[in-house]
Amino acid sequence: MNKDIIHNKVVDTIIERRTIREYSPKQITDKELDTLLNAALWAPSGRNSQPVHVRVLQDTDALILLNEDFKNLVGWDTPAYTRYETNPVYHNAPTMFFLFSDRECHMDAGLMTENICIAAESIGLGTCIIASVGALMNAPEGNIWKQRLNVPEDWYFLIAIAVGYKAEDPPPKPRDESRFQVIKKI
Ligand SMILES: Cc1cc2nc3c(=O)[nH]c(=O)nc-3n(C[C@H](O)[C@H](O)[C@H](O)COP(=O)(O)O)c2cc1C
Repeated sequence: MNKDIIHNKVVDTIIERRTIREYSPKQITDKELDTLLNAALWAPSGRNSQPVHVRVLQDTDALILLNEDFKNLVGWDTPAYTRYETNPVYHNAPTMFFLFSDRECHMDAGLMTENICIAAESIGLGTCIIASVGALMNAPEGNIWKQRLNVPEDWYFLIAIAVGYKAEDPPPKPRDESRFQVIKKI
């Protein structure tokens, strides 16, 4: 698929983004954070309804506690790489975005998520999209976290995004082009 395509900053950033699961403990700058929030702000939404609310947590002690609560709920030995004791659900990232809404709006959240991830890649930051923390956030045990993140308990957690300086350089994951068909004439 990368054979004969136009290359520019945007296209190449999309191709070069990887999920990052090892981060430097160094916090991102406020200017970098504001850049990502601006990218999130400019995500499209259905009828411009802007249903997705963003909370950014940069408190490492709280993220450690979140990981404890997550593992106490889902188990410390479940066979998912996000859940090993050595690999916390937030992947030791110093910044976590949490996306919430008062309605089901996964498409809108997905578009905002990709904006954040591509903007992060374009300024040299790594990201990991994290759905698994929803097991805690959308359970009754997650209500305390909704309080701490200043959202009503009846809002849905949609997705989280870990953000930080990359401490790994993983190879690309395979992609299956057989899913795509171009129909030029029926
Ligand atoms: C909706 C969604 C949920 C994901 N949830 C998790 C997660 O809970 N934990 C995790 O470590 N990675 C998670 N990922 C990252 C995927 O595993 C990753 O995007 C996929 O393996 C492809 O790798 P790449 O992003 O490097 O291309 C998620 C990605 C998406 C799009």
